[in-house]
Amino acid sequence: MLDIIVKNLEELLPALKADLKDVHTTRDLEEIRVAYLGKKGKLTTIMKSFGSLDPEERPKAGKMVNDAKDKALEMLIRKEQDINEKEILLQIDNEAIDLTLPGTATPPGRRHPITQVLGEIEEIFVSMGFDVEEGPDIEDDYHNFEALNTPPFHPARDLHDTFYVEGGLLLRTQTSPVQIRVMERKKPPLAIIAPGKVYRVDMDVSHSPMFTQVEGLMVDEKISFGDLKGVVEVFIHQLFDKEAAIRFRPHYFPFTEPSAEVDLQCVFCRGSGCRVCKQTGWLEIMGCGMVHPAVFENVGYDTNKYTGFAFGMGVERITMLKYGINDIRLFYENDLRFLKQF
Ligand code: DAH
Repeated sequence: MLDIIVKNLEELLPALKADLKDVHTTRDLEEIRVAYLGKKGKLTTIMKSFGSLDPEERPKAGKMVNDAKDKALEMLIRKEQDINEKEILLQIDNEAIDLTLPGTATPPGRRHPITQVLGEIEEIFVSMGFDVEEGPDIEDDYHNFEALNTPPFHPARDLHDTFYVEGGLLLRTQTSPVQIRVMERKKPPLAIIAPGKVYRVDMDVSHSPMFTQVEGLMVDEKISFGDLKGVVEVFIHQLFDKEAAIRFRPHYFPFTEPSAEVDLQCVFCRGSGCRVCKQTGWLEIMGCGMVHPAVFENVGYDTNKYTGFAFGMGVERITMLKYGINDIRLFYENDLRFLKQF
C-alpha cells in the first residue's frame, strides 16, 4: 500500500505543475487549489488511504504528505504572486493615459476690441500718473450739463440727443460729468481719466446709441495749454505710432476755454488724402481745452489759484482708426468672424 501512496505523491507535484501552467486568473487558481488541497482534493484523498497502512509505515507516509503539501502550497503561492503581478501590470496598462493623443481643444475666449483698446488707453494714462475714476451711467441734468457750463436752452445741448429717464434723470451723453463728481470730492492737484459708456439718440455707420468715451482732467496750479499738448502728444504717439503727426484745431465746448479738437494725420493715407479722411489728410480724434472758470466755480475751486485741462475721446472711433474698421455697428453685432480678428 505504501508503494501506491508514494507513487501517487510522486505524481502529484508534476501534475500540479502542469495544471498551473494554464492558470491565468485568481479564480482558476482557486479551483486548482481546491482540486489538490480541498476537502475532496487529491492530497486529502491520498491521506484518507492512510487507514490501510501498517502503523510503522504511517510516520514515513505522513512526512511525505506534509512535504508534498508544503511544496504544493509554495507553488500555489508563487503562482498567486505571479498572477497578481500580471494583473497589476495589465491594470496599469489599461488605465494608462496616452499623453501623445491629441487633446480636445477649448477655443480660448478673447476680449472685445473696445475693451482691448480701452485697456491700452488706460495703461498709457496710468503710466503718466493719472488715476482711473468712474461715475454713474444714469446722471442728473446738473452733472451732465449744468455744472459743465451748459444751462437749459444752451445751443450745445442740441448736439446731444439725450435719452431722458423718469425722475428728471438722463443717460449721460458724455463722460464729462465724472469731472464734476471727482472735483466735488477732491481738492487739486489731480489727474484722472474716466472711461465709461455714454448714450445718445443716434445711429448710423459712425454713430451708436451707446458708445464708449474716455474723459481726462488735470488740475493744479500753473497748468497750461502746453501741458495739455504734451500729454495728448505722448498719448497719441504711444497709442498709434511715434511718427504720428497731430494738430490742435480751434473748436468750441461749453466747459473749456480755449477749446480745441485734436486731429491725427490720416493713418491710412499718411496725409495725402483718402476716403477715410475725406481727402483732408486729417482725422479728428478728441476734444479738449482749458477748464472753463465757470466749471471751477461750480465745484468751489479757487479760479485765481488753479487752472486745468480736460479732454474727451470716443473709444469706438479710435479703435476704428487703429484697425481700419468702417462701420461702428460691427462692434455690437457679436459676429465671431469679426471679433476673432482681434
Ligand atoms: N464731452 C465731449 C463730447 O462728448 C468731449 C470733450 C471735449 C470732453 C472737450 C472734454 C473736453 O473734457 O475738454 O463731445
